[in-house]
This record gives sequence, C-alpha cells and structure tokens, in this order.
Amino acid sequence: MDLYKGRFNNKTSNLAHEFNSSITVDYKLYKYDIMGSKVHAKMLEKCGIISKSDYKKIKEGLDSILEDIQNGVLEFSIESEDIHMFVEEQLTKRIGEAGKKLHTARSRNDQVALDIKLYIRDKTKKSIGLLLELEKTIIRLAKDNLNTIMPGYTHLQIAQPVTYAHNIMAYAQMILRDIKRLDDSLKSLDASPLGSCALAATTYPIDREFTARELGFTKPTLNSMDSVSDRDHVIEFINILAMSSMHFSRLAEEMIIYSSQEFRFIEIADEYSSGSSIMPQKKNPDMAELIRAKAARLNSNLIGILTVLKATPLSYNKDLQEDKYYLFDSFENFEITVKILIGMLSTLKVNKNRMLEMAHKGYINATDTADYLVKKGLAFRDAYYITGSIVNYAIENDLSLNEINLETYKNFSEVFDEDYYQYIDLKFILEERDVFGGPSPNRVKEQIKLTEQELKAFKIHNHLE
Ligand code: ARG
Repeated sequence: MDLYKGRFNNKTSNLAHEFNSSITVDYKLYKYDIMGSKVHAKMLEKCGIISKSDYKKIKEGLDSILEDIQNGVLEFSIESEDIHMFVEEQLTKRIGEAGKKLHTARSRNDQVALDIKLYIRDKTKKSIGLLLELEKTIIRLAKDNLNTIMPGYTHLQIAQPVTYAHNIMAYAQMILRDIKRLDDSLKSLDASPLGSCALAATTYPIDREFTARELGFTKPTLNSMDSVSDRDHVIEFINILAMSSMHFSRLAEEMIIYSSQEFRFIEIADEYSSGSSIMPQKKNPDMAELIRAKAARLNSNLIGILTVLKATPLSYNKDLQEDKYYLFDSFENFEITVKILIGMLSTLKVNKNRMLEMAHKGYINATDTADYLVKKGLAFRDAYYITGSIVNYAIENDLSLNEINLETYKNFSEVFDEDYYQYIDLKFILEERDVFGGPSPNRVKEQIKLTEQELKAFKIHNHLE
C-alpha cells in the first residue's frame, strides 16, 4: 500500500523505504500489536465510534491474521513499512472497508508505545521464570557441596577457606537481586499509553480506562506527549538484563579459571565445551567465554538506547524506532545465556579432592593462627605480626602451618599449645565461622533455606508455579 499517496506527488525511493522501514525487526511485535488492535476496536464499538458489524469483521479479521502468522501461512512482507502497517494492510485486504476504520482515534505512535509495553511485560515475566530456574540449579549444586572445602580468594590470591556451596550461593544472591529488580520494574509498566494517539490525544469520545483495563494495566498514562515518547521502561529492562548478564559473566569467568589445568576445581561437561581444530588434547570453555562477551553486548545495548534517547525533543521522533533493535537483542541474548548456564551448571563436575588439596596451600589458616593468639590474650595487631613472621619462616623452610612443631611455635610465642593444631584444621575453621551469612555448613544451609523462601514468594507473585 502506498500510504502517503495523498500528500506526496512522488513515491518514496526504494532506498529510503528500506532505510525507513522497520518490519524486519518489529515483526516480532505482531502478537502484541494484534492484541492491542482488538481491544482498540472493541472500545471504538463500545463508544459508538464504529458499528457493531464493523467491529465483528475487524475482530474476526485480526484473529485470522494472528492464526495465519502463527501457522506460517502468512509471511511478513517487506513492502510494509512496519508491523502496524502490515497488520492494517492485511486486515483491509481481508475484510475491505471495515479494515480502514481500525485506525480511527489512534496513531502508530501510541500503538507502538503500547506494543513495547506489552512485549516488555511479557518478557519480564519470562525472564523472572528463567532466573528462578537458574536459581534452582545453583541451589542444587550448593546442596551437593555443603562440605566441599575450597580456598576462598581475594585478589585471586588464596585467602580463607570456604565451601563450594558458599561460593556458588554468592551468585544465587546476585541473581535473587536481579529477580527483585525485574519484579519491581513491572510497576513502571502499569499505565496504558493507548489513546494518546500521535501526541495530542483525540477529539473522538474514546474510553482510555476501558482499553487500559482490558489490556491488564491499572490505569491510562497521564500525559499524551510523554506517553508516545517515553521509553524509560525500555532502558530499565535493558539495564536490568545488562546487570544480570554482568553477574553471568563473572560466574563464567570463574568457571573458566576454575576449569583451567592450573586449578582443575571443576570440569565443564563435554556437552557444553568445544575442542580445537588442531590441538587434539583441548577442551575449551567456549560457552563461558561467549557468556562473557554477551555481557559486553548487553552493556553496549544499554549505552545505545540511552544515547538514542538523550537528545530527542518531545514527542515522537523516528529515532525511537531503533529502540527495538536494542530491546530484542538484549532479551534474546539474555534468554539463551540463562538456558546455557542452566545446562552448564546442572552437568558440572566438581573436583572435591583438588579443591581440598588447594585449600591446604597458601597459608589459608594464617588468620586463624592470629585469632588463636588473640584468644590466648594477645592484642590482634601483635598476633598479626607474630603470625606474619611464622608464615615467613614456613615459606623459607617449605612447610605448611600444621607441619611446624610446637617447640618452634613456642619460639615465636609462649602461648602456643597442643590445642593449636586443632584450631587450624580446615574443617574446624569452617565450622567455627558460624555467624549469619558465614560459610559454616550450618549457616550455608540456613542461607539456602532463606533464599528458597524468597524465591517462592516471587514464584507466587508472578504465577509461575
Ligand atoms: N515503526 C515505528 C516505530 O517503531 C512506528 C511509529 C511510526 N510513527 C510515525 N509517525 N512514523 O517507532
């Protein structure tokens, strides 16, 4: 259809049409577009703006278009400028005159604003569901490793003993915060822009409360100019997904390090690894590396959408058409990343012996030696200094702390006694770290229980049983 033939003497050039058109991207909105159009037509009929029989034809026409798209019978045509024109053109082709009435008291500006909100609402819930699934996988892994002692790191240097359960549950907390953010963000989607039309609403006696309610919003938006130019919710959604993918990327980075030959803490399953075309011995963590790179992509989408919006005056400007590129790309990459992570974590092999072996290295119990001296009456700073000298001695003599005899210890401080050796035992050290949020197996069990409780509440809130 040549939409602008009334106003224009000449046809848009093919190149300009290609540049201007968005159907190759926004066809993904078809379901939401048809949903919005059906409710709009219902409202037009209810308010006496179109006849009952026209409404019936429009509704049936839209239903048949949806069905044909879903069955693969109807293909999107690049002749149409965007998904909105495509649906309208199809409708008129199918039902004739009545189809031309659908766009009464509406503009593509409020139409696309609505479609995007419906899309984000749907995908936000989907994202919450995916993250809940990921949490389940992490928790299962944690439950299997409550007593798996490993070194905890700061600066990637061996620091203090923890368990793999505690380590992996740290990611469960990050993802729990992502779920909370997604859940909260649903609030910024609860007003319907439909009826704002191009920018200045309409002279037709429409009912915006009705369309808002029918589409599952609590109310219509308050300012028609803001409604058609607001993309805050796009930024918010992309932002949350970018932050979440940053969490995935940190986890992926850790998996890459932990699966290296030097660490050998974990083994990523064959199903989620790649080989090398030349080096037969290789098993590479390609999936984890891609997860890292996907985070870069989501970050750049966030910067992209912020940059598109930063200098657009009110109200609608065609710049906004590009929002979908960032939006779809972010969600789709987020979705596949979560699925891959679930697969990787549920098939991960944890090398408990190797973790324990490495936990005995690096003077991991030095802090506990200092704490022992404090319990025997020394000031912490003095205890810290003495322990430093002991570690120095141990390094020079290639000994671990439990290999140094009591006599030698007594040379450093008189207060050392037989009970010291039990005090620096890794299992004992862990069990002693029995404070809320700490790594003792009991506290990690508590952490898991509380996390599960919170997750359940989100499941119920989003009807994801
Ligand atoms: N394809 C457009 C978009 O996605 C729809 C709105 C077009 N409005 C307009 N006045 N040209 O933003």
